[in-house]
Formats: sequence, structure tokens, C-alpha cells
Amino acid sequence: MTTALAPSSRPVAAAAGAATNAAIDARRVAAMPRGVGIGFAVYAQRALNAELWDVEGRRYIDFGAGIAVLNTGHRHPRVVEAIRAQLDRFTHTAYQVVPYESAVSLAERLNKRTPGSHAKKTAFFTTGAEAVENAIKIARAATRRPGVIALGGGFHGRTFMGMALTGKVAPYKTGFGPFPGSVFHVPAPVALHGVSVEDALRALVQLFKADIDPESVAAIILEPVQGEGGFYAMPPEFMRALRRICDSYGILLIADEIQTGFGRTGRWFAMDHHDVLPDLMTMAKSLAGGTPLSAVCGRADIMDAPAPGGLGGTYAANPLAIAAAHAVLDVIEEEKLCERAQALGDRLKGRLNALRATVPQISDVRGLGAMVAVEFAGADARPTPSSPNRSRPARAMRACCC
Ligand SMILES: Cc1ncc(COP(=O)(O)O)c(C=O)c1O
Repeated sequence: MTTALAPSSRPVAAAAGAATNAAIDARRVAAMPRGVGIGFAVYAQRALNAELWDVEGRRYIDFGAGIAVLNTGHRHPRVVEAIRAQLDRFTHTAYQVVPYESAVSLAERLNKRTPGSHAKKTAFFTTGAEAVENAIKIARAATRRPGVIALGGGFHGRTFMGMALTGKVAPYKTGFGPFPGSVFHVPAPVALHGVSVEDALRALVQLFKADIDPESVAAIILEPVQGEGGFYAMPPEFMRALRRICDSYGILLIADEIQTGFGRTGRWFAMDHHDVLPDLMTMAKSLAGGTPLSAVCGRADIMDAPAPGGLGGTYAANPLAIAAAHAVLDVIEEEKLCERAQALGDRLKGRLNALRATVPQISDVRGLGAMVAVEFAGADARPTPSSPNRSRPARAMRACCC
């Protein structure tokens, strides 16, 4: 995932004997495996709102935003206060052993806040990949079917089902197979790279002919705006067609909103831009302002399919993260962060589009709300073949300005 930390001040000379970025990085290389790649050898010392300071005293604007986790900024005072208050009460009981009201009320809030006024239920987990795993478990338990369909270029996490669903081999799947079976991919509709909505739907029909009977498919999972894939928003007509196909074959539609949720696209959820509803939604990242919390929210009847004990985890619904999430929801509401994301995104897109007059290599400026990308063409001024359905890796430069 390409993000940028932009230095915004000159470094303060490191105190004698103080750790430097280079010294810590040398220790990292010796102590930690290279598979955990890092974006920048800039070691964080502290952070506040949109800024971050490294161990050498340099100040940065943090465009990384913890990979879409900090829609409310670093250490929002309300979030810090909520965590502090919870620290004074208890930090862990294991929700499945001794539950607490704050998790129940957060589920109630998410059931109301997510798209659709139908009866919903929410289960909490820890990471985004875990939410994806559990959404598939729930879909399979509810439909008693094995198959799952995902999109080329989609990203759904680094666990085994997450990798299987991810529609991008390098670097996420290289060397890690075999993956769970009954997972299939169709190309994502990205007109810029020559895949129309009709092409994507034709591929789905072909899949049903060649690889799996639609009546054996439990779910279609997709990101309403592909994040890692290059900030490609799924066209409304594609979402409508998928909803129709799901309804005709009894397939569940899962919206992976782990990256798009909580105001980033200018609405609470990217599915709020569409006129069809998902059956299940996964959430994580900005849900809890920097603490590890994820969730699956969906139709109550579907969510109740797994038997007691089938869902959960030792740290699922961690009380500190639940407290943080309540504060995050308050802040998004009270500080009108959806409107703010829309305004920032509009401003950014306006500036990027103005640049097109002098930078002909810009082949596209796109995005919903503050989830904005600018894509550059190749030397021949044609869009680079960055579609994951083609051979070369994505070259979209993503601007994560939440
Ligand atoms: C759309 C989407 N799904 C799932 C994940 C996996 O989340 P996590 O890294 O918390 O496991 C990510 C992470 O970037 C994501 O963007």
C-alpha cells in the first residue's frame, strides 16, 4: 500500500546517545523478518491529529493515517478520554466469558447506523481479516453452501481465507498456498482499464457455466470502493445487477467496508452511495480510532445462523476498543466528519483536475469523498495497464486524506 509521510519541519538535532531512525532500522533488520515490510524507516515518537513526530524530532503530515484507521485523527481527545475511563474500570474479561453493556450498545448503534432499516445484528472481532473470515463463516452457515466469489484487484486480508479472496497475487499470496477451496474471482468493472460492467457480469455468467453452479454459491464479497486495488468505485449499475443476481440464486451480498467505512467516502459507509443493500457488512480500521476492533453487521436472521460458540475470539470486542469506538461514532456525528470528508475530497479533486492542463500524464482523478486517487498514464499518454486483471501492478497514487 503506497502512502506518503511528508516532512513538514526540519529535524531537531537528536540528543547525544538518542536513538536515530537509522540505528533502530538496523536493529529491525536484524530482529524482525523482511516479510513485515515497512513503508518508511521513520520511527514514530508521538502523533497528534494529522501530524506525527519521529524519534529524531522531525515533524510530518501523516498521509499514511495508519492505513485508513485515523479518520478521527491521532489521539482525538474524546477517544483518549474514553479509553482512559475504560482503563480505570477493566481492560479485559473476554466478552464470551463475562460480557459488558458497552459492547451491546455499540452493536445497537451500528445496527442503526449501517445502511437499511431492517433488523440487524452485529458481532465483534479484532482485525479486518478476522471480520472477513467470520462473514464467510456466517454466509456459509446461513446458506449451507460452499462457494464464494470475489473480484480481481480486491483486498480482503492476510489470513488464509483473506488471501484466497484477495484478487492480487504479488505480494499477498506469493509462496503461501494452497488456499481454501471454492473461492472464485471475476474481474472488477474498471472502465479506465477496459473492463465494463457488462464484461464483469459476462465473466460472472461464464463462471456459473464453467466453474460453479450459482445455487452452490454462499456469497459474493466485494469492496464498494476497492482500496488496495486502486480506489476504483463500483458503478451503481454493477451493484444493482449483483443484488439482482444474488436475489435470484439465494446468494448473499457482502460489502467489505473495512477501508471505506466511517466517513471516508463522504457518507458513513460507501454503501450509502448505492440504492441496494448488502446482506452482510464487514467493518474495522476507523471504527475504533487506532485500537483493534472489527465487526460483522448484517441481517439478523443470517447473523444468527452459526450456533453459540461458533463465533468469537479471546480479544473479540476488547473493552478498550469498544470504548474508543463509541467515542469515534460521537466524534463523526458531532464534528460532521462525513461533510468534512466530502469538502476535503472536492477540494483535492478540484486541484488535481486543474493540474491536468499542465500535467497531461494524469489519466484519471477519481474518488468518493476524501478517498481520492490520481492515476498517471504511461509515456504514450495511455492509461497504464494497472488493472489487477492485467499483468502489471497498480500504479495509482493514492491520497488518503481523511
Ligand atoms: C478492504 C479490506 N478488507 C480487509 C482488510 C484486512 O484488514 P486487517 O489488516 O485489519 O486484517 C483490509 C486492510 O487493509 C482492507 O482494506
